[in-house]
Amino acid sequence: MEIIILATPADVARTAADVIEQQVRLGPSVLGLATGSTPLGTYRELIERHRKYRLSFNQTQAFLLDEYVGLPTAHPQSYHSVIRADFTGSVDFRPGSVHGLNGMAGDAEAETAEYEGHIAAAGGIDVQLLGIGADGHLGFNEPMSSMSSRTRIKTLTRQTRQDNARFFTHVDDVPNHVLTQGLGTIREARHLLLLATGRAKAEAVAAAVEGPVAASCPASALQLHPHVSVLVDEAAASQLAHREYYSDTYGRKPAWQGL
Ligand code: PGA
Repeated sequence: MEIIILATPADVARTAADVIEQQVRLGPSVLGLATGSTPLGTYRELIERHRKYRLSFNQTQAFLLDEYVGLPTAHPQSYHSVIRADFTGSVDFRPGSVHGLNGMAGDAEAETAEYEGHIAAAGGIDVQLLGIGADGHLGFNEPMSSMSSRTRIKTLTRQTRQDNARFFTHVDDVPNHVLTQGLGTIREARHLLLLATGRAKAEAVAAAVEGPVAASCPASALQLHPHVSVLVDEAAASQLAHREYYSDTYGRKPAWQGL
């Protein structure tokens, strides 16, 4: 795992965009996309690069991490709508190349199994963008999720519903249930890119990166993956015990190595 401490959220966004740009320039690619506030800067940066020099996503497929149960696709807070508004609708993904879970599916088991099949048929995910919840969740894998879980239905914690209430009129409007890629599913992506900014994420980042691998912190599953880049700003890094070491290592990293 490589922990990269950057001065500002804008630096985190630029560095994450660099990784994604490098991937999509290689040719047909599969991205795993996250919603929420953290990746917004990265998406803005990618949209700008698309406009400035035609960075293209027309050979890229994308899979969303999760979706609310009970929100129709057209609902403004469904992650289908959110990702289109935040990113995919402003660049040149081909129609049908951005995939999400159907939160209105009558049979959640069949829906989630089919989604896993679509990811596998696309050849797996090259780069998976991830945020982290204040409770350590990854995707919507709340504490005590199995490290080998697959895509399935989950119940949100009160804290997560409270955290996400800002996107809804009232906390009671935040759905209780979600469909989410499992920790085992996420761990199959070839490169995991976790982004975290702000002091509110500092404890979760420290638990995920330096704590024990434990179901009480689902993001600690990252420690089991061979290729993880954790991009954090100074505030989100503030509770890391070994931050000097991470900064020294990144400062001396040979340019050819990349992330
Ligand atoms: P945020 O959410 O980016 O909106 O903070 C992250 C998450 O809950 O995984």
